[in-house]
Amino acid sequence: MNKVTIRDINVDNKKVFLRCDFNVPLDEKLEITDKTRIIAVLPTIKYLLEHNAKLILCSHLGRPKGEVKKEFSLAPVAKELSAQLGKEVKLAKDIIGQDARALTSNMNIGDIVLLENVRFDIREEKNDEEFSKELASLAEIYVNDAFGTCHRAHASTEGMAKYLPSACGFLIEKELKALGDALDNPVKPFYAILGGKKVSDKIGVIESLLEKADKLLIGGAMAYTFYKAMGYEVGDSICELDKLDMAREIMQKAKDKGIQMLIPIDNKIGKEFKPDTESKIVKYNEIPEGWEGFDIGPETIKMYINELQGAKTIFWNGPLGLSEFEQFANGTNSIAKCLAELPNCTTIIGGGDSAAAVTKSGLADKMTHISTGGGASLEFVEGKKLPGIECIAEKN
Ligand code: ADP
Ligand code: 3PG
Ligand code: MG
Repeated sequence: MNKVTIRDINVDNKKVFLRCDFNVPLDEKLEITDKTRIIAVLPTIKYLLEHNAKLILCSHLGRPKGEVKKEFSLAPVAKELSAQLGKEVKLAKDIIGQDARALTSNMNIGDIVLLENVRFDIREEKNDEEFSKELASLAEIYVNDAFGTCHRAHASTEGMAKYLPSACGFLIEKELKALGDALDNPVKPFYAILGGKKVSDKIGVIESLLEKADKLLIGGAMAYTFYKAMGYEVGDSICELDKLDMAREIMQKAKDKGIQMLIPIDNKIGKEFKPDTESKIVKYNEIPEGWEGFDIGPETIKMYINELQGAKTIFWNGPLGLSEFEQFANGTNSIAKCLAELPNCTTIIGGGDSAAAVTKSGLADKMTHISTGGGASLEFVEGKKLPGIECIAEKN
């Protein structure tokens, strides 16, 4: 990466505007259920504090669409950050209003102010120029470390970088290194595992992996579009009937390039979309009417574990089944366990639901890298330019 990072700039006694991705999941009591994104940005925050900065933190949370809504307040994040850092993080009541201005105007070295949810202002997602300038007027330096939001060209992720000296933080640096190294120049053999809901969501990722991977292992609901394209019945499984040609093209391309593309040989199917629904195991060509494929079956799990042996790099996106329901999480959990145990293999996980599933499996710390980006990591893998990174100055 050739972008300016916080190591390259002088932040001593400066007001630093740090864009983070604190878009964390909350439960009904507004308690944070996964702190990964907060913990991931602590090295940057600590570095800036150690180098005598005055910190103004900014993030979105959820999609409040320009309205101030209590359930989207960053209050739980301010509380968690204060606990993690062992010092007070003051939450401004607004973004660039009276309270934010008052709290950020007379800061001392080491002070930390968190602005309220930047999406409470409709101009954030419009990348409004005036709003960008107003945000920039709060600080002297702009630092982006919101990797998960880098695929959005918004005022606080892209717009305001025009008006201040800019740099990126350690999380962005780490993500680009992990995703970039693994996928630009993967140590071979390089195998990719693709699951999740739709082929159409992942077409860019698939195209990119077809250029690099030695083997593609398919699972999740996406498998049923491939089944249908091959002429098998899928019952009530999620299936994109308008993407059958696309699925055939992908299979043909893999064949032409000599890439082994593996499709599940059996499935765990269920009657209804509910956790305790009746279920059974069937072969690839045996899904009856009225049943839905919700997970890869035990034979497929065995086959996939066998096929993954010897890999030196693995990229995984997309749960292999409806892993939110315990009885359909076996495929995802078994593959996570397999990756965790593979010797000398770089394992990279991208995608919001995939990261959540691996975290839930308890094996997150056994993976080389789990991206904090959902959409951002996929767009990066597709080879798209991310506006939140493009806007940061290049090193001389
Ligand atoms: P990611 O966010 O990691 O990119 P996706 O959003 O593509 O992944 O897919 C994740 C979703 O797909 C999860 O909610 C999961 O339950 C669902 N899913 C995976 N397999 C199935 C299946 N066989 N039937 C229904 N839903 C599935
Ligand atoms: C994410 O969770 O993927 C990021 O925080 C971006 O959120 P968004 O999809 O609402 O822009
Ligand atoms: Mg998802």
